[in-house]
Amino acid sequence: MRIILFGPPGSGKGTQGDLVERHYGFPKISTGDLLRRAVRDRSPLGLKAETMMNRGELVSDEIVEGLVREKIANPDTRRGYLLDGFPRNAAQVRALEAMDGGRPEVVIEIEVDGPTLIERMQGRLTCRKCGAVYNLRLQMPRTEGRCDICGGELYQRADDRPEVISERLRVYKEQTEKIRAHYQAKGVFHRADGSGTVDDVFGRISGVLDRELARREADKAQR
Ligand code: AP5
Repeated sequence: MRIILFGPPGSGKGTQGDLVERHYGFPKISTGDLLRRAVRDRSPLGLKAETMMNRGELVSDEIVEGLVREKIANPDTRRGYLLDGFPRNAAQVRALEAMDGGRPEVVIEIEVDGPTLIERMQGRLTCRKCGAVYNLRLQMPRTEGRCDICGGELYQRADDRPEVISERLRVYKEQTEKIRAHYQAKGVFHRADGSGTVDDVFGRISGVLDRELARREADKAQR
């Protein structure tokens, strides 16, 4: 199965994607994390992507499609995988279907109101070493400035500055929201309320996943 976590910047896709990976064993493929790693390592791809990311614009389809294609080819995705931050426009939806079209999928939109999105992004801290995410107000690390998991240094993402946040929200409305209709028409679209604690939201997402997995098992048994 393919799980697509869909939702605006700061809605909690990365946080929930990690929990889904841990509880269900579907590896998380996050285009944002892969791009940030490439920028950190100063790879040619990272150098190409950095300016667009720091402006809050989308990186070229060719670059992100290449990253996703490579990850999907990995043997650990045979049972399924979770996509966080991809697809983000109509061209990426077509590319995904060309790469791995036959796979059953579930799309879950995490719904969060605008002021909460901004509060979450402005308070976000990310580990330079392993990419784990914290929040100054909402999800504090145990030791100030250090990652609980690997001890790496925590930093504020360059695209979490107020002017870039508004551009990212604009790009989301203009390009990404439009692909919702495609998944609704396919009958694979679900919504999860993204308010409340991380555990509250995970409870709602796992409710959707458990129902979908049970339904698919029942369908298989009937065949
Ligand atoms: P990307 O990293 O994908 O950014 P995004 O979609 O804007 O999402 P975010 O990472 O901002 O937020 P999230 O929803 O994952 O929330 P999180 O869990 O961190 O992309 C970055 C850039 O890369 C793009 O702008 C673009 O340039 C490029 N890019 C990436 N994919 C691309 C693509 N497919 N095509 C082209 N370009 C692409 O949570 C946010 C904060 O809230 C954290 O601090 C967290 O601790 C906190 N939090 C989460 N849940 C809760 C909760 N329930 N309660 C309290 N706090 C919470």
